[in-house]
Amino acid sequence: MRRAKITIVGSGNVGATAAHWIVSKELGDVVLVDIADGIPQGKGLDLLEAGPVEGFDCRVTGTNDYAATENSDVVVITAGLPRKPGMSRDDLLKTNTKIMTQVTEQVAKYSPNSVLIVVSNPLDAMAYVAKKVSGFPRQRVIGMAGVLDSARFRTFVAEATGVSVEDVHGFVYGGHGDTMVPMVRYCSIAGAPLSKFLSQDKIDAIVDRTRKGGLEIVNYLKTGSAFYAPSSSVVQMVEAIVRDKKRILPCAVWLEGEYGMKNLYMGVLAQLGTNGMEKVIEIDLNEQEKAGLAQSAEAVKGLIAALENT
Ligand code: LAC
Repeated sequence: MRRAKITIVGSGNVGATAAHWIVSKELGDVVLVDIADGIPQGKGLDLLEAGPVEGFDCRVTGTNDYAATENSDVVVITAGLPRKPGMSRDDLLKTNTKIMTQVTEQVAKYSPNSVLIVVSNPLDAMAYVAKKVSGFPRQRVIGMAGVLDSARFRTFVAEATGVSVEDVHGFVYGGHGDTMVPMVRYCSIAGAPLSKFLSQDKIDAIVDRTRKGGLEIVNYLKTGSAFYAPSSSVVQMVEAIVRDKKRILPCAVWLEGEYGMKNLYMGVLAQLGTNGMEKVIEIDLNEQEKAGLAQSAEAVKGLIAALENT
């Protein structure tokens, strides 16, 4: 059987760390592509040379040329600028829309059958650009945010309750921003409701910290944003696809009527397999959860409107 071919666009911290985890799990051969001359080549070769020590048989190629990405099965797009001091959200939106457009054109040209996983921010808007530019069906353009936001939520719950992270199940819905909706009612510890373990005050504090999880890391790092948990999260999605695991993970999905919403990316539970996003899972939401999701949808629509006006 042919080994999976996974392209990662952007060889910064998220891209390079994702490559690291992909080869350590032997998920496939990796092509790291970036406009920066020498960075993908250097990081790619360096990672390849860890193969004999770690015992992975994956090819790793670093390049500036999209021709090397030809016929990829999965393409992870991490390219884009982080927000710099003095830069407005709209400036970032404008710059990254341009980058995302150029990247997607190249990716779609060389790998017309690939599944795209968008990681660049603002996430829900960049996933929209990738879908529009590629012309791919929604099954093959997915955004990574839910796994990351849920991982943060699960980390904080595990910490507050003193139980293993493995026993904390939970997921976050909505856009990847301050309006995201941690689904507290569906969070469980080994199947038992979270409310049995923590007071409402503690749960509220965890919800708030989850919403600001990205910013918490930026405030520490000062010159960059999170990359370990984001890359680990995207690799879980890559694994679900290349191993056809049919996993159910929270992902940014192009909604077509589910949850009463359409024509926008929203974080919801979805099933991932060889064909990409194979199924949107619809769960029952109460009035409060519906209102939270609607508010988050407004924030995402605001980004799209700003993008269309630039
Ligand atoms: C975060 C940014 C990278 O949530 O989206 O950390």
